[in-house]
Amino acid sequence: MDASADLRSCGVDHNGGPVKIVQITDCHLGDLPGTALLGMDTDHSLQCVINLVKEERAHIDLLLGTGDLSDQGANAAYHRLKEYFGQLTQHSFWLPGNHDAREELTAVCEGTRHFANEVLVSGWQIILLDSQIPGEVGGELGAHQLTLLEQCLVRAAAAGLHTLICMHHQPVAVGSAWIDEQMVADADEFFKLIGQHSCVKGIVWGHVHQQIDGDWQGIALLATPSSCVQFAPGAVEFKVDDQAPGYRWLDLHADGTIQTGVSRVHGVAFSVELDSGGYL
Ligand SMILES: [Fe+2]
Repeated sequence: MDASADLRSCGVDHNGGPVKIVQITDCHLGDLPGTALLGMDTDHSLQCVINLVKEERAHIDLLLGTGDLSDQGANAAYHRLKEYFGQLTQHSFWLPGNHDAREELTAVCEGTRHFANEVLVSGWQIILLDSQIPGEVGGELGAHQLTLLEQCLVRAAAAGLHTLICMHHQPVAVGSAWIDEQMVADADEFFKLIGQHSCVKGIVWGHVHQQIDGDWQGIALLATPSSCVQFAPGAVEFKVDDQAPGYRWLDLHADGTIQTGVSRVHGVAFSVELDSGGYL
């Protein structure tokens, strides 16, 4: 399959030093401002996270929004997201999660670069892979995304670029049985492919609403807290955690190294239903 015809590639200007990225994920915005998810106002928590980024990150080159940007796929949620992300940068790149509606998302992004699947910036290639299976909770890349990935990696190798890969669902088990049922179904094929390309330096995702900093053959494996409700690490069944909303920052260096960390909102008392038994 020739996926290159579908490749939406774009460049972001850069003024020297490391490429500075912020990832904000799993915003779960509702149709109306102030809609609650498991007792938490997801507009309020997102604004708190954005305020924290403003406090802590003097400059960012681009923002990654890695899925579940809305909770129910409402058009109005994506329009509000544009405004929220626009407080930080116009260079934001979006992926769908299982809670997103592809048609609404693409309609709101029409005429913008938010829905690119390759971003080139100062010696780095950022690949955004779509792991959504419409109507399903779990993720899969599928032949088309894997072909696109392979074509991007071949281009990166030829151009001497370093690569960061982003997706919504986790490509590795995170140690929570209930959510690991939802991991990328064809992760074996994904890792076989990236194992053949030394340009890949990191993989970052959302979906699991918790921080993970791991490693696979020298490639950073990074999961990021939600900008709203958190899930308890290591839980066998669905369990909400009381940690605060947060974001991840990544500094991509010219030598291919990645510095990264997670920061959480402090000094704000968020409401959340800790005894909730489910999340759809
Ligand atoms: Fe989510």
